[in-house]
Amino acid sequence: IKRITTHILQEMKTREEKISMLTAYDYSMAGIVDAAGIDIILVGDSASNVMAGHETTLPITLDQMIYHATSVVRAVKRAFVVVDIPFGSYQGNSSEALRSAIRIMKESGAHAVKVEGGSEIRESVVRILSAGVPVMGHLGLTPQSIYKFGTYTVRAKEEEEAKKLLEDAKLLEEIGCFAIVLEKIPASFAKIVAQSVTIPVIGIGAGPDVDGQVLVVHDMLGINQEFKPRFLRQYANLQAVMTKAVQDYIRDVKSLEFPNESESY
Ligand code: KIV
Ligand code: NA
Repeated sequence: IKRITTHILQEMKTREEKISMLTAYDYSMAGIVDAAGIDIILVGDSASNVMAGHETTLPITLDQMIYHATSVVRAVKRAFVVVDIPFGSYQGNSSEALRSAIRIMKESGAHAVKVEGGSEIRESVVRILSAGVPVMGHLGLTPQSIYKFGTYTVRAKEEEEAKKLLEDAKLLEEIGCFAIVLEKIPASFAKIVAQSVTIPVIGIGAGPDVDGQVLVVHDMLGINQEFKPRFLRQYANLQAVMTKAVQDYIRDVKSLEFPNESESY
């Protein structure tokens, strides 16, 4: 199998083939998602919500992200694996940012890191890139700064915020990021951003006119039924499937239906 690289992702934008991206946080899920043919697997800090049950992405630690990333990398044969650097491990200190990125790359074997923000984290991004680590940007709704914004509503609706976002996208391209995630912004504006940079722009709640799409895998599989934003398309209802399987198992245990003779030694 030919591995996906930043070069291949760039070619996909050039020839207008949309890039598919999903999250994964563990070996079993990453194996399924990779074997199905996904282009990019994101070990997102959404693991803080999805795996650990926190309300925000802020509490997850660098060690925990590396544990998830290591598990994912062991399963992946083809996809390009990107790991979120968690809150507090890169902002405001480019030396710490570099140290965090190097730990992720060395200890997990992942292929790139993702960070949230634009001009504010310029030095950190430059420093990580200078070590040869590919960096994916993340603009628009940036969950690590949720307490600054106060809500998870659509971003860049006002001209001032849109102007800064476009400048940040151009800055991230200029300093050498290989791609940018755009989260929860108007589709018409996301289109402009994607057309204004030559690197791939991957949307989540950013409409169809970007270079690829990303979703949280537990949300799109319907394992997690609590989170249903407008941008989410649920491709399965695994919560129902899993609930029925567990209930059937309980019933069979109670009724002595399980295990039967062929399931015994
Ligand atoms: O952590 C995450 O899952 C993400 C995606 C939603 C882009 O950052
Ligand atoms: Na994230």
